[in-house]
Parts: sequence; structure tokens; C-alpha cells
Amino acid sequence: MRILFTGGSGKAGRHVVPHLAARGHRILNADLAPLGHPGVHDLITDLADPGQVWGALTSYAGFDELEPGTGLPKFDAVVHFGALARILIQPDCETYRVNTQSTYNVLEAAAKLGIPKVIFASSETVYGICFADGPRQPAYLPIDEEHPTVPEDAYAISKVCNEATARSIQKRSGQDIYGLRISNVCEIEDYHRDFPAFAEDPGLRLRNMFGYIDVRDLAQMVERCLDTDGLGYEVFNVVNDDLAVPQDNEALRNQFYGGVPVKTPMQPRQAFFSNAKARQMLGFSPQHDWRSILHG
Ligand SMILES: NC(=O)c1ccc[n+]([C@@H]2O[C@H](COP(=O)([O-])OP(=O)(O)OC[C@H]3O[C@@H](n4cnc5c(N)ncnc54)[C@H](O)[C@@H]3O)[C@@H](O)[C@H]2O)c1
Repeated sequence: MRILFTGGSGKAGRHVVPHLAARGHRILNADLAPLGHPGVHDLITDLADPGQVWGALTSYAGFDELEPGTGLPKFDAVVHFGALARILIQPDCETYRVNTQSTYNVLEAAAKLGIPKVIFASSETVYGICFADGPRQPAYLPIDEEHPTVPEDAYAISKVCNEATARSIQKRSGQDIYGLRISNVCEIEDYHRDFPAFAEDPGLRLRNMFGYIDVRDLAQMVERCLDTDGLGYEVFNVVNDDLAVPQDNEALRNQFYGGVPVKTPMQPRQAFFSNAKARQMLGFSPQHDWRSILHG
């Protein structure tokens, strides 16, 4: 497929873009910063500017595409990861503006250009716990995609807004638009640097609900979304199967989630976010867990 990838130079994109390129996809990376991956052209683009987004979505993906002389090829899909990826990078109003404006620009242009698939990064933060002012309890466990999304911080509010925008644009366009409610993204060095401390003090992971997603499994999820057509608008939790700490599910529930209803019985290592929907609808199957990486 010919894919416009936004934010491909970031923590997640720099793994997902090479993964997709290695599988033969043609990628154009639209980001403020270059990725520098062989075979992937970097188009320096401010996604908050609608004209620049339109220009990126109607761009050649490299000089070689000039050679056939048959005109501009169309993109088959957009993977939209570009964002201010948390609070406290820029002031809240700017986080909200950049994230909502960028996503509107990408979705509107993709719909009007007839690009059949858009995959966009939402976030686990939509459930309102990660960046809340003080501790918050989930309404129930495990958190599936039906759980209320009423966050209080600018970043997560921007993601909820983006999901509403995507749902509405898809209603008119009939494209496939899949939103990924991504858990905390981990690269290999994160396991070595951070996870021993999480084991000592699981409370360090409370704001992420003890969840995580390996970058390689996130890449698999994007691939599964590219391969699966016809779902219309859907959102998916993207989380590893297991908890990011060695304490078991019941012990953590007793310590941190007293009184929270348990909707379906939970296994000892089961994550508090459910990835059942992604498993069932997309065949998503995470392969990389921290125990195997740290303990073999
Ligand atoms: N990292 C996580 O744990 C996590 C968790 C949940 C969701 N997400 C979401 O996943 C996506 C990727 O996250 P990440 O960790 O790679 O973030 P990142 O900050 O590492 O990368 C984001 C990329 O977007 C680019 N960008 C920012 N503003 C831009 C703009 N106006 N125009 C063009 N490019 C712009 C940045 O240059 C950067 O390369 C984001 O949408 C983020 O909100 C991340």
C-alpha cells in the first residue's frame, strides 16, 4: 500500500514506519522532524496547517515517483500518529489546538480525497485516569471500549474530540476509520531502565492502569488494521495481554481498586485494559512481554 504516515519520527513511529516499510509498503513520513529511514521520504509538514496537510496528502512519496510520467499516485491509507503526545510539552491550549486541528485536517483531507482507510492514534488517557488531578477509579474492570470517556486534561480531551471528529467524518464518507486507544508505549530500553522499579513499587504504574504496549506489537496492530477492511468507524484498546508489574491482578485490585466492579472474571496476569475487541475483530495478538525480555 501507499501510505501517508504522520508523526513517523516519534517514539512509536520510528518503529512502526520501518516495520511497514519492511513489509513492502511505500511510506511518506509527514512530521516536523525527519526520521531518516532508508526508502522513506521525510516531508517536513506542520499538521496543524490545513494547507500543508492537503499538500502532503497530494504529494509524491519520493523522486522515483516522477519517473513513470503517469501523474500523481493516490494514497491507499493514512496512519496518523503526529501529535503533542502528552500534557506539559506545550501549554494546555496549544496541546488541544495542535491535536484537534491536526486530526481534523488529516481526516477532512483524507475523506475529500477518497482515501479509503485512516488509522489514527487515540489514547488510553481518554478513560480519564492517566492525567487526572488526583487518583480516579475506573467505572468497572476490565476497561473495554464501552467504558465512559470523560477525561479532565487537555491532551485526553483532544483525543476524545478527535474520536468524535473521526466518527462524524466516517458517517459521511463511509471510509474505514480506526482509532487506536494506545496504552503506554514501551521500547526495549524502557523495560531495562524502568521495569525493575515498577516491580519494587507498582504504584508507579497506577496512572497507566499497570498497562503497556510494546512498540513491535503496536506495529502489528497497525498492520492488522491495514489488512482488515470494511469495519467502518471503530476504536480499539491497544494494550499487551499482561500487567507491567509482577504483582497479580487480584492483589492489585485489592490494593488499588477496592469496590470497583469486575465485569468479567480476570486472570492473574491479565491487564486492566481489555484488548479482546482487537483480538476478535482484527486478529491482534501481542507477542512481546516484559518478562521474556528481562528474564528470558
Ligand atoms: N507514547 C505513548 O505512550 C502513547 C500512548 C498513547 C497514545 N499515544 C499517541 O501515539 C502517537 C505517537 O506517540 P509517540 O509516543 O510516538 O509521540 P512522540 O512525541 O514521540 O512523536 C510525535 C511525533 O509527532 C510530531 N509532531 C508533533 N506535532 C506535529 C505537527 N504539528 N506537525 C507534524 N508533526 C508533529 C513530532 O515531531 C513527533 O515526531 C501520538 O498521537 C500519541 O498521542 C502515545
